Amino acid sequence: MRIIMLGPPGAGKGTQAVRLAQRLGVPHVSTGDILRRNVADRTKLGELAQSYMKAGKLVPDDLVIEMTAARLRERDAQKGFILDGFPRTIPQATALEGLTRIDAVVSLFLDPEDLVKRSTGRRICPNCAAVYHVHTNPPKKEGRCDKCGSGLVQRPDDKEDVIRGRIRTYEEQTSPLIGYYKEKGLLRDVYASGLIEEIHQRILEALGA
Ligand code: AP5
Repeated sequence: MRIIMLGPPGAGKGTQAVRLAQRLGVPHVSTGDILRRNVADRTKLGELAQSYMKAGKLVPDDLVIEMTAARLRERDAQKGFILDGFPRTIPQATALEGLTRIDAVVSLFLDPEDLVKRSTGRRICPNCAAVYHVHTNPPKKEGRCDKCGSGLVQRPDDKEDVIRGRIRTYEEQTSPLIGYYKEKGLLRDVYASGLIEEIHQRILEALGA
């Protein structure tokens, strides 16, 4: 299946995308993770993207479209994918139509104050990109990744003022995609409050999977 995870920052797109990808046996393609990897590796793309990401702004469409198109051309993505964080603008959505077909768009929604709580408590593994939360989804050993043992860090864009800016950016530039995909009959709304496993079940139900 070719699925898009849509939703504001902190809604749980990445957390749910990882589970869904495992369940369906397709890769999890996160544009945020690919960009963060490029920043860490100091690539040309990472250098160009870094200032936008730090400020909670969207990276320019042309850069992100080219990067995502290259990832979707890879062999493992030919059998399907869970696309997390792309598209985020109408031009990205129209570019995606030229690259592949989409079967469904899961739109996660949550109260804005809950989005802020989830993002401020998030910790990530800089090595394998696993995601934790200090209260709701802690690692087994404090500050250490369960999967690879690396030290966990807070994302630079997870400071409260930046998070509130990212939520505004989502409302202004990304939320129009809800109507766009609704019109195409692809949208599956899923309430993103509750236990991680409960939300996973809601998503499977919404997809009829
Ligand atoms: P990106 O990494 O995609 O960030 P985002 O969309 O803002 O989403 P988040 O990663 O913040 O949240 P999420 O919904 O994945 O939540 P998560 O599962 O982690 O993008 C970062 C930046 O890159 C952008 O700002 C932009 O600059 C750039 N970028 C990326 N793609 C782009 C594009 N297409 N175009 C232009 N620019 C682009 O969960 C959040 C926390 O909550 C975690 O701690 C988790 O453990 C916890 N949690 C999850 N579910 C639950 C639950 N049910 N109960 C309790 N806690 C939970």
